[in-house]
Amino acid sequence: MQGSPPRGMRDFYPDEMRVQNWLFSRWRASAMRYGFEEYNSAVVEHEELFVLKSGEEIVSQLFNFVDKGGRRVTLRPEMTPTFARMIAARGGALPKPVKWFSVAQCFRYERMSRGRKREHYQWNLDVVGVPEVTAEAELLSAALDALGGMGLTAEDVVVRISHRGLMGAVLEGLGVPEEIRTGVLGVIDKRGKEAEESLRRRMETLGVSRDAVHALFALLDEKEIGAFARLLREQGLSTESVEDLETLFGYLEACGIGDYCEFSPSIVRGLPYYTGIVFECFDREGKFRALFGGGRYDNLFDLFGAGSLPSAGLGFGDVVIQELLREKQLLPALSRRIDFFLIPYSQMERARAFRTAERLRKGGFHTDLVLGARKLKGALREGARLRAERVVLLLPEELEQGLFVLRDLESGKEERVPEGAFLEDPGRFLRASGSGPSGSAG
Ligand code: HAM
Repeated sequence: MQGSPPRGMRDFYPDEMRVQNWLFSRWRASAMRYGFEEYNSAVVEHEELFVLKSGEEIVSQLFNFVDKGGRRVTLRPEMTPTFARMIAARGGALPKPVKWFSVAQCFRYERMSRGRKREHYQWNLDVVGVPEVTAEAELLSAALDALGGMGLTAEDVVVRISHRGLMGAVLEGLGVPEEIRTGVLGVIDKRGKEAEESLRRRMETLGVSRDAVHALFALLDEKEIGAFARLLREQGLSTESVEDLETLFGYLEACGIGDYCEFSPSIVRGLPYYTGIVFECFDREGKFRALFGGGRYDNLFDLFGAGSLPSAGLGFGDVVIQELLREKQLLPALSRRIDFFLIPYSQMERARAFRTAERLRKGGFHTDLVLGARKLKGALREGARLRAERVVLLLPEELEQGLFVLRDLESGKEERVPEGAFLEDPGRFLRASGSGPSGSAG
């Protein structure tokens, strides 16, 4: 039997789990500060849901199987179709807007590369029932609040924003036939991930003329929304996408996150369900794949007969952010917290140690004790390894006088304290707090 997990899957040893929990707590704290409520579902979902809604790329990556009852199911590759199913099931009963979030484990049988695993956790934030781009502003504010809380500034990360309708109109203006536009958007989405020359060839293979490919690539580098407004106006095409973008950028400034955000017409998103604003967040140096991505998807609910419900959301993965934070040395040093470590001198003092540990634990203190037969020296070493703040020695002679021996492992100082006085206010003997149970870390 191999010691490693199946390829692409991850084990989380306690050190890694501490980091993971820290990240999740940042996500949850930001979501709740912005008024989102948590939901979840099982990781096994109807296969059909993704076949109909997630597009070819994701369907080819499904971890799917037939269950013992003959149903075609799959491990979820993303959360959005499940979210839509859950919202549709409650239909009109849910007061709008719905602002929900989840921290969901997702599975995609992808080709592995840096930042790409076959299993990852994704923080999903979604807003249902808001047709205005206020929803997008709210989503981006919450996501950037989390990034800011982790120490990343507008110098470290950038959110590139565009609009599906903008590229749609551009392709229409360039005479690209409707039936190949989804394919063309798929090629544009690979920009920066694949060589430019290979993308140009793929466009031509799809049936886009060489001139149109040339014009399109020139436009993809345009940084001014105004240039698109002029172009669309000249060609008599709808400028609604430009207006949405301009309104959104105004709100983003008002939310204090304008510095993080820029217009980038080559952002189209790989998933097919987006209908409006689309965005992706990257590290400024461009070393990693997207930290998060999302956008507006107003038609996803049609599948459930729920009509069109204006919605927008984003997914923020756990893999890339940890790589970026590690590189920037922004991951906090997290360690297990043990307030008190109890050492009974021998088997005779064990029951007393358990009783004391119970009292401390009930009082909210992180408490551990020697469980096996241990010489005093070895037990003290164990306490040091655990980085226990205080060691409580239960020694026969001192116990007879009703005294505990408290030792500070860092300074080596010891004091003898009456059991009653200690248990009355154990927090007094801790360095950090001085009183009350310690806060939890990790
Ligand atoms: P997505 O762009 O496919 O969007 O994924 C969102 C984020 O999840 C990515 O930016 C990346 O950080 C992370 N991610 C995706 N696949 C992997 C992988 N194989 N390994 C590691 N990390 C990965 C969606 O999934 C949409 N459902 C997001 C959304 C929510 N749109 C609206 N609401």
